[in-house]
Amino acid sequence: MTAPTQGPGRARIHARTLRTDRWWLPPLLTFLGLSAFVIYGVIRAFMNQWYWVGEYQYLAPFYSPCLSEACVPGSSHWGRWFPDLGFLVTPPLFVLPFVLGFRLTCYYYRKAYYRAFWLSPPACAVAEPHRRYTGERRFPLILQNAHRYFFYAAIPIAAVLTYDVVIAFHGRDGGFGIGLGTLVLLANVVLIWAYTLSCHSCRHIVGGRLTHFSRHPVRYWMWTRISWLNARHMPLAWLSLFSVALADLYVMLVASGALADPRLFN
Ligand code: FES
Repeated sequence: MTAPTQGPGRARIHARTLRTDRWWLPPLLTFLGLSAFVIYGVIRAFMNQWYWVGEYQYLAPFYSPCLSEACVPGSSHWGRWFPDLGFLVTPPLFVLPFVLGFRLTCYYYRKAYYRAFWLSPPACAVAEPHRRYTGERRFPLILQNAHRYFFYAAIPIAAVLTYDVVIAFHGRDGGFGIGLGTLVLLANVVLIWAYTLSCHSCRHIVGGRLTHFSRHPVRYWMWTRISWLNARHMPLAWLSLFSVALADLYVMLVASGALADPRLFN
């Protein structure tokens, strides 16, 4: 079979690419970045400990919301919906499918991992190794169309993370307090909201299909703000990915006793 890049109507170029720049660097960095996140995520999801700091009310983002009977006392702010199913079905696994579904079907991440993991294609003007191209019209990639529904699920999850920040303003004597952990969780939730609201589906839901912006001034105002964020979707995808892992790591270190949380107030 003829490779798509060698098919009729295509330029007769036999080199894989004529690019002379370091086109391989972005997909390589993407591969390393996403692989590191996946490895950390898998280890953390099955660690099943060190996710709650009762003294300061810090809950690790990977374990929020904690909805299982297996959650440690104090960490279930929204009830215990699921039974304790043992070490193979840890509390994050009830929420992770929605969070992962949102990221995996994200328009930016699709581009990123199609290039970095499937080399399809690895970069612009670089031939891909695959012989067939069926796009996203068949199973399983047709499921990418569910992105809008994952966006709907991402909103309450971001709201839960916001609640986690509010209760993290908790002092040693039980009143108001601020520690470095509070600020780490706050920075994370700001980036999570920025990434969520910069979503292409969000932009379309807010301002798409409007024939006359002038008749919908509020939606138009929101659409212009979301469009500004949307233009920064790629950096927000990375920043929020790093921030959620770092916030989780920070809470893990404090909960395990490896790190003392520096207190700024109480
Ligand atoms: Fe990236 Fe929706 S397009 S989160």
